[in-house]
Amino acid sequence: MGMSSQVRENMLRGSWVRRMFEEGILLKERHGDGNVFDLSLGNPVMEPPAGFRRELEKIVGQPQPGMHRYMSNAGYEETRAAVAAQLSRDTGLDFTAGDIVMTCGAAGGLNVVLKTILDPGDEVIVVAPYFVEFLNYIENHGGVARVVQAGGNFLPSLDKLEAVLGPKTKAVILNSPNNPTGVVYDDDLLHGMAGLVQRKEREYGTQVYLLSDEAYCRLIYDGLEFPVLLRHHLRSFIVRSHSKDLALPGERIGFVAVHPNCDDKQDVVDGLVFCNRILGFVNAPALMQNIVGHLQGVTVSIADYERRRDLLYNGLVGMGYSMVKPGGAFYVFPKIPIDDDVAFVRELQEHLVLVVPGSGFGTPGYFRASFCVDDSTIEGSFDGFRKIAQKYGLC
Ligand SMILES: Cc1ncc(COP(=O)(O)O)c(C=O)c1O
Repeated sequence: MGMSSQVRENMLRGSWVRRMFEEGILLKERHGDGNVFDLSLGNPVMEPPAGFRRELEKIVGQPQPGMHRYMSNAGYEETRAAVAAQLSRDTGLDFTAGDIVMTCGAAGGLNVVLKTILDPGDEVIVVAPYFVEFLNYIENHGGVARVVQAGGNFLPSLDKLEAVLGPKTKAVILNSPNNPTGVVYDDDLLHGMAGLVQRKEREYGTQVYLLSDEAYCRLIYDGLEFPVLLRHHLRSFIVRSHSKDLALPGERIGFVAVHPNCDDKQDVVDGLVFCNRILGFVNAPALMQNIVGHLQGVTVSIADYERRRDLLYNGLVGMGYSMVKPGGAFYVFPKIPIDDDVAFVRELQEHLVLVVPGSGFGTPGYFRASFCVDDSTIEGSFDGFRKIAQKYGLC
């Protein structure tokens, strides 16, 4: 077959979530939907908030001429102004519509940023455990991923970052709240990372961007604060999305924001707009732009997610599994009691519980389980988790 060998290799490297998805379908066909407990996906079962439906009905009931046409590749001015106003409230910085480019989700946004800033061979630092697509996106645009393992509690370690931050480093990707661990970086850590990057910029005479993937920034628990990276580094991009906070992953709507005081800001924004076009996204979906412009600051029920987080976390801890308590996102990332995370996941599968091995996130020895599922799926998984915990002497 004519598939590129590179694509073939990458498909094998990062296909754990997809593989579990496909195996889940087979298991559900064999055992019935209600008997398979699928915690492998980041595809929320929650419906969007009521405000989404109201906005959708409004626009369908009063269609405006031209509402399905192309618009500026950056997106509608009014939507970008609404996003900018919300970001200004969130960060205390002064964003305008000109700092925002609407994108096809965070995935589209990350690709647009990387395409804009990378020359062939430029390095991008990624902290493991990572969202596996980061590696694919970097490679899409000729970059080279430099992976560094996180330190304690899965937080980026400044010492480890320093060891890989070199003259070829063009960007560091941050992902907080993190997929797959759920950890939220605090302000001191962001300050330390920015300080390190600035020291290295001076040492090498380079410019290094911080690229903050904030796809889960509204899903934060226990009253934790979500710190503002942009207070610490001018050469920063925020990438956000409404896939999680408004439960709209299929609608492909998100945005990129550039630091309002970034050097060469207009150049950078022009580059983003151009790349949104030439990557074939052209513009973010028109209907969704019209809707989310009215829903900035609205979210799904955080209390509901927090309750599900507690249900899964307390259940697993009660059986003897150990993990960092997630402060955000909708995943737990427990340690496995044996050496081989893939074998562990296969064993769980025999009990009809689906999770993803840590290897799929660059960190073997763990597994990821999602709590963006119904309570019955979480509770139904406990029997399988308990049997394995008993087998390996956790309880
Ligand atoms: C860390 C992270 N970044 C980006 C994305 C992509 O999100 P979107 O649906 O907005 O493209 C995901 C999706 O799960 C994610 O987990």
